[in-house]
Amino acid sequence: VLKMTDLDLNGKRVLIREDLNVPVKDGQVTSDARIRASLPTIEFALKAGAQVMVMSHLGRPTEGEYEEKYSLAPVAEHISKLLSRQVPLVKNWLEGGFEVAAGELVLLENVRFNTGEKKDNEALSQKMAGLCDIYVMDAFGTAHRAQASTHGVARFAQVACAGPLLANELDALGKALKQPTPPLVAIVGGSKVSTKLEVLNSLSDKVDQLIVGGGIANTFLAAAGKPVGKSLCEHDLIPVAQELMKKVNIPLPVDVVVATEFSETATATVKSVDDVAEDDMILDIGPVSAQALASTLKDAGTIIWNGPVGVFEFDQFAGGTKTLSLAIAESAGFSIAGGGDTLAAVDKYEIADKVSYISTGGGAFLEFVEGKVLPAVAILETRAAQ
Ligand code: 3PG
Repeated sequence: VLKMTDLDLNGKRVLIREDLNVPVKDGQVTSDARIRASLPTIEFALKAGAQVMVMSHLGRPTEGEYEEKYSLAPVAEHISKLLSRQVPLVKNWLEGGFEVAAGELVLLENVRFNTGEKKDNEALSQKMAGLCDIYVMDAFGTAHRAQASTHGVARFAQVACAGPLLANELDALGKALKQPTPPLVAIVGGSKVSTKLEVLNSLSDKVDQLIVGGGIANTFLAAAGKPVGKSLCEHDLIPVAQELMKKVNIPLPVDVVVATEFSETATATVKSVDDVAEDDMILDIGPVSAQALASTLKDAGTIIWNGPVGVFEFDQFAGGTKTLSLAIAESAGFSIAGGGDTLAAVDKYEIADKVSYISTGGGAFLEFVEGKVLPAVAILETRAAQ
């Protein structure tokens, strides 16, 4: 694909699609990782002398309606602070009528306030394209959506290219999945096999070891004939888990941390997987299992991590996720982490600078790992080939 960094942006109207879909509470941005990840792209365009317009969605507002709680106003304020310059938020921007000088920046209000955004409406896409000389797709986190601001606009813009954040994400994920240094080890945690089925299937063809955790591991334990008590477990997916275990090496825990209730104050007990009682809930992997997995991770050439292996929000069930996080941090292999819960663990154990690449994608990260085509990337490839 064409890259923004290879183009002359001087004096050009440059429309950049970022994923600034960040958590906001009481009018304040509570986690700005995605905003910070987009800054190098924005700063590059500003320095190059472009008239910069940045657009993004926030949340899932009702199509075509302005709703204050989904306004990008808190994001505009936050970027203003980070860049030490006032970044105006433009409300009704579709028809143009606003000024941006060269080397200046405006933020356009939530793209999902526009009717037709999610349906990738052609007329809407053409309007967006008309606002710019160069369209830059940089929102990796939304690249799995074929919407007007991620896909349609790229069809009609005079020039459509990839921004550095998108390009870096694709490089890093491609390195881990397409030319991994062996052994390739993946960790897939989270609560349900059903929501990660495609990821598990796709990874089972590629990895040397597939570590499962959280509720997902319970279904695999049940598939191996172990008692799971009243743990979260999808019994209907046991045959699927059995097939996966035939296909790829899935190391199961030998010890687990259980409790009889799911709460912050629940008493945690370490048990052998054979001793889980009927009223036990498995809420973490045990220390012996965690140590064994940690040594696997330290020797890995490549690590793909999505999802915690226990209820790490509660400290008594956080040991497994903590041990694995630190092992990933210590591993000399190339590691990538993605997904909301995973990034919360990365933050909690302060390993952000020790993971080789942290993806800004949630759903997009999973779809990439599943081997799916990301429509917002595919259209850039089509345009580049023209
Ligand atoms: C995300 O947070 O995963 C992206 O910003 C996409 O948001 P969406 O699922 O509402 O399209």
